Amino acid sequence: MNKILLLNGPNLNLLGKREPDVYGSTTLKQLEEKITALGESNNIEIACFQSNHEGEIIDKLHEANEIGVDGIIFNPGAFTHYSYAIRDAIAGIKVPVVEVHISNVHSRETFRHTSVIAPVAVGQIVGLGMIGYELAFQALKERVKGRE
Ligand code: DQA
Repeated sequence: MNKILLLNGPNLNLLGKREPDVYGSTTLKQLEEKITALGESNNIEIACFQSNHEGEIIDKLHEANEIGVDGIIFNPGAFTHYSYAIRDAIAGIKVPVVEVHISNVHSRETFRHTSVIAPVAVGQIVGLGMIGYELAFQALKERVKGRE
């Protein structure tokens, strides 16, 4: 069965509680359940992982590559803007990564306008709220099914 990893970075464990005016009221658990259900109805296994730690995220990216995950939906949180280590991890693996941001980072502080991840991602979905994760799933599903 094809497999997609839903990967969330720092502070996204607080979804639903954290700055709800910016990130909405959906919790991480609800998001993970939603994407898992989407996976089930498309015969794609979903693995979910969230970490506040850069090294753990890098290890997960390497592991996803080793076990042959077909795609990664990834919200790197604030690491987006400065983690060359995560950027290099993505550059070093074969798994396609779709970068997701819940908020419109381009309408926020200047430091959020830069993504060091974007050049190594297959695409970026920004500012559409939680639906961005579903759109990323659809995009990866097309890639996965196109290869079958
Ligand atoms: C975010 C945007 C980042 O700038 C921020 O640090 C986050 C969440 C988003 O989903 O909009 O933690 O990635």
